[in-house]
Amino acid sequence: MEKTFLMIKPDAVQRNLIGEIVKRFEQKGFKLLAAKLMTIPEATAKNHYAEHKDKPFFGDLVSFITSGPVFAMVWQGENVIETSRTMMGKTNPQAAAVGTIRGDFGMVTHRNIIHGSDSLESAEREIQLFFAPEEIQNYTKDIDNWLS
Ligand code: PPS
Repeated sequence: MEKTFLMIKPDAVQRNLIGEIVKRFEQKGFKLLAAKLMTIPEATAKNHYAEHKDKPFFGDLVSFITSGPVFAMVWQGENVIETSRTMMGKTNPQAAAVGTIRGDFGMVTHRNIIHGSDSLESAEREIQLFFAPEEIQNYTKDIDNWLS
């Protein structure tokens, strides 16, 4: 079953939004496999965002994401990569639809609440970058039978 890496960014941790955001993915029916509050080392942040290293905002992005704790998570479920990005909304919170996480809680792109993997390849890479295999749970829930 598909897995994705989601990360509640420092702005949302500071604004007490962890519970609200986790609740949305739980209620949707996705399964939480791993989670931790952590401060990202600069080298890990640069690695995570390596594809954007030549963009003008790269320095600001790395400073922001390392500025305080993030809540890193692995979630599992059918089509979880695409669906979680729909639930997050557009990168710019001002363009994100009301009802999405960024649309409901964000104001500006450089503090946009949450990160989510954008493809299977990124999900695998990001999960490995943030979690050791033994930190990722493999378990069943009764509810699994009611979702597919
Ligand atoms: S691009 O240029 O389309 O590839 O970039 P985009 O996918 O929109 O954004 C890549 C990540 O950079 C973040 N971002 C920014 N951070 C700080 N300042 C500015 N101006 C800025 N613009 C984009 C954006 O939120 C993406 O990070 P994640 O964590 O994936 O949301």
